[in-house]
Amino acid sequence: MELITVTPEEFAGRVVELIRAAAAAGPLNLGLSTGRTPVPVYEALARSGVSFAAGSYLFAPDEYVAAEPEHPGTNRSFFARHWPSPPLPPVVVPRCDAPDPDAEMRGLCAEIARRGGIDLLLLGIGENGHICFNEPGTPADAPCRAATLAEPTRAQARALWAEPPHRGMTLGVPNIMATRHAVLLATGEGKRAILTAALHGPVTAAVPASYLQRHPHLTVITDLAGLGER
Ligand code: PGA
Repeated sequence: MELITVTPEEFAGRVVELIRAAAAAGPLNLGLSTGRTPVPVYEALARSGVSFAAGSYLFAPDEYVAAEPEHPGTNRSFFARHWPSPPLPPVVVPRCDAPDPDAEMRGLCAEIARRGGIDLLLLGIGENGHICFNEPGTPADAPCRAATLAEPTRAQARALWAEPPHRGMTLGVPNIMATRHAVLLATGEGKRAILTAALHGPVTAAVPASYLQRHPHLTVITDLAGLGER
């Protein structure tokens, strides 16, 4: 694991530089997280002049199961608000209103596999330790699927949803572990306890982000000082 500690002011620029380097190497299969954490990254990316080679595939690793794609709480709406496209290529988001959410997510994962797998995956961490919508209790072999959302995840979603969805579609844990480079982003004191547990506690289904300890190429970028080896 590579742990990069930055100031809050440096955070977005540091992540953009990492994306810039990856994009310079050729077509990139890039998974892009949602939530509060990456918003300044995508704003900085819009100003950065970073471009993606033809054949790059940008996608969201999760989405709510919901009837209204245009609802402001969907990840599709998140990217419509926060992702600078154009000029950057659009982000493929699984269809929240797909008739069969399991099949929808499996289809996205099959497309990623057909394109050679995930080169770079930006991840957030939920305060309950989820990664994508792999909630506490998710076993290490849980595949691409639709899954039940944990109540803390739904509570957080109330910022945008009067009645948050009960389910979400998500990459599975093995898909995350198979990415060539996983980048976990965490900012703010509210993430200190769970990030410490994820990085230094036992590898456990109770904290799905702890599976990342076993990832062969994990970078953590955080503005939380003092999270080094212990
Ligand atoms: P946040 O969400 O960036 O809004 O904290 C992260 C997550 O729940 O994965």
